Amino acid sequence: MSIDYSERIPNNVNLANDRALQRALEHWQPRFQDWWREMGPSDFAAADVYLRTATGVDAQGWATYGAVKMPDYRWGIFLAEPVPGRTIGFGDNLGQPVWQQVPGELRSQFRRIIVTQGDTEPASVEQQHLLGHTCPSLYDLRNLFQVNVEEGRHLWAMVYLLHAYFGRDGREEAEELLTRHSGDVDKPRILGTFNEPINDWLSFFMFTYFTDRDGKFQLKSLAESGFDPLSRTCRFMLTEEAHHMFVGETGLGRVVKRTLEVMKELGTDDPQVVRAHGAIDLHTIQRYMNFWFTSSMDLFGSEVSSNAAGSFANGVKGRPDEGQYQDHICAEATYELETPQGKESVSLRNAMNEVMRASYIKDCEIGVKRWNMQIQRAGFDFRLALPSSRFGRSIGVWAGVPTSPAGDGIGPEEHAMRLPEWMPGESDRAYVRSVMQRVVEPGKMAGWIAPPDRGINNLAVDYEYVRLRE
Ligand SMILES: [Fe+2]
Ligand SMILES: [Fe+2]
Repeated sequence: MSIDYSERIPNNVNLANDRALQRALEHWQPRFQDWWREMGPSDFAAADVYLRTATGVDAQGWATYGAVKMPDYRWGIFLAEPVPGRTIGFGDNLGQPVWQQVPGELRSQFRRIIVTQGDTEPASVEQQHLLGHTCPSLYDLRNLFQVNVEEGRHLWAMVYLLHAYFGRDGREEAEELLTRHSGDVDKPRILGTFNEPINDWLSFFMFTYFTDRDGKFQLKSLAESGFDPLSRTCRFMLTEEAHHMFVGETGLGRVVKRTLEVMKELGTDDPQVVRAHGAIDLHTIQRYMNFWFTSSMDLFGSEVSSNAAGSFANGVKGRPDEGQYQDHICAEATYELETPQGKESVSLRNAMNEVMRASYIKDCEIGVKRWNMQIQRAGFDFRLALPSSRFGRSIGVWAGVPTSPAGDGIGPEEHAMRLPEWMPGESDRAYVRSVMQRVVEPGKMAGWIAPPDRGINNLAVDYEYVRLRE
């Protein structure tokens, strides 16, 4: 099944054979385009951007690259190839054939999950609406826009599922996905992290490292779903998501690299001196990391959740990489949970959110290790660290419990007093914003970030990745 680009909505789901569905989606399309014009990357509609576009859904050669004006990007509907004879891999329906339609009794559960996932995609585009104006380089500007158009496509993916499998309710939900807006007082996005402003590029790299990685784990668990169209949709989205996390990991690595260059040059790790020379001190990087990591941790939900247990039992949502486990039923197994009251043994099914969060944390540690190696090689003692999962939480058993970043319980006064050491404050944000100066000469970088090791798709770093029309 190749992608048909002669269609108004490029797709590999045989849309032309389902006139009613095609009409409904063609009706939604101009509303999406209006939303993109209004809420997408502002003022860059005329720029030629070196973007990749999906041309197939197999592992090799799924993308072509070329200069595209973003409003002309071909958003479409792409599902990974079906796996012949696929069966449900977990829960009470283990081993049964996967569903090609949503089972009636699971309809509201599936709808809620698809709407929640779908809501995050346009939310992130809205959060990054103004970032283009302060890009540190054309290379970075291009990466931002690539991430933005793909998040737009992920919205398409969820809207397709809503239209194709949920009838009138689904069409209504698809409309709502364009009327809620990130940070809106009356109609905010569903999940907290997606209402946080992203006004600077350090936040953008933190977001793509930590929050897109939450997306990776959500998509991985939905790729296990017994509802096959959802599984196939998420499997293809994961191929695009990898680039978003690459942007975050390499972006943060380049910020650290530049900071270390300045520290070595000046022979000091004094944050004020580092700032006076236009770089972002490691303490500030740590505080931003604390903020985005803890906020993203909340996205996994409560440690103990009957909802999560139900989704697992019913075959709605598995664990990321379910194949790595021996026991796929988990009816008898228990999980040792750390709570403020001490250790507690809960049913494993009820602890599925926590299982997912634990694999997420492990994945987050990989980049941190790499950045610490950079710091060590530069000869400095400072080490970045992910805060404890108890720290700074707003959801779950640790919500509102005052702890240090290491997770040790402390009094509320000490917590309040030391919070400016641990979380970014107004002066940090103001400083970071002050170095966000727009750099758009090909190959040039802003002073707070090192150049990337290589360009996109084997092109040079100084390639003109975005041709701006003034
Ligand atoms: Fe996405
Ligand atoms: Fe993403």
